[in-house]
Amino acid sequence: MKAVNALVVRALPLVPKGIVKRIAHRYVAGETLEQALATVARLNAEHCMATLDVLGEDVTRRDETDETVEEYRRALAAIALRGLDSNVSVKLTALGLKLDPVQCRRQFARIVEGARAHGNFVRIDMEDSSVTEETIRIFLESRERYEKVGLVLQAYLKRSLEDAHRATRVRANVRVCKGIYVELPEIAYQDRQEIRDSYAALVELLLGEGCYVGIATHDETLVERALATISRLSLPREAYEFQMLLGVAGDLRRRLVADGHRLRVYVPYGESWHAYSVRRLKENPAIAGHVLKGIFARQ
Ligand code: FDA
Repeated sequence: MKAVNALVVRALPLVPKGIVKRIAHRYVAGETLEQALATVARLNAEHCMATLDVLGEDVTRRDETDETVEEYRRALAAIALRGLDSNVSVKLTALGLKLDPVQCRRQFARIVEGARAHGNFVRIDMEDSSVTEETIRIFLESRERYEKVGLVLQAYLKRSLEDAHRATRVRANVRVCKGIYVELPEIAYQDRQEIRDSYAALVELLLGEGCYVGIATHDETLVERALATISRLSLPREAYEFQMLLGVAGDLRRRLVADGHRLRVYVPYGESWHAYSVRRLKENPAIAGHVLKGIFARQ
């Protein structure tokens, strides 16, 4: 089955968008803010917090970034108006980081201002390694102006332990994830166990130094290792949260919530759903079955 999955993953770019949309709809809240807010309300009713992500990345035109900024500001206002428990997650390449870092900073500052107006929090997602350093710098600069800004560190990057030390100096709010982009062995662990060990070490370092940590994983082994660290450090529930993606590992999510842990679900929405959906499908161990079902359901 692994071989079939690998084949399907390679063929994904050829699968028609209509089919990808049908099989990936569980990963995305919809195309509109209204649909995203309805998903957040449902998650809040299930005692989960949320983080909204306006889909889109690697823009090629500067004017595209204005619409993204406005959408985030609308989302922040609507979250406050409806009393929902959600913050937002932002990809800096959607604000033109690769085109013009100065303009990107200006655009990000406008989102942060929107958050400040409502006392909300903004997380900067971490993207491929070409923008890691600049992303951390923008985080640190923003953090000087507004405290409720957070960072993401990727366990597969060999540099992340050093970056975690930088984060502890400002007691940053850090999400730790494995990392999703394809990176070279020179800079990134490739072995599953090495990535897990790096992940556990980052969580331990950050929690031990008093950082608030978003433990973002669906890997049960890592959840158990994080819980062991939390217990060893005798940390209260307010010192950390678990984070999961919409549509993934519902059983694990419900178990953690039932045990009283804080848990946040990442809720992506927007018209640019295709690239995100393909990334999620590639990580789904049952992808071959889903794609085949999608194809047959169409006929
Ligand atoms: P792993 O991939 O080993 O998955 C563990 C198990 O979870 C699988 O065996 C399977 O059962 C289930 N599973 C995982 N993905 C699935 C899917 N798509 N469909 C069905 N089942 C699935 N990355 C990044 O580079 N920058 C970022 O900013 C973020 N942000 C982020 C936020 C949040 C809240 C999460 C949970 C993840 C991210 N990521 C990310 C993605 C992250 O780096 C990683 O690619 C995924 O979380 C998958 O890694 P796991 O730790 O879940 O392990």
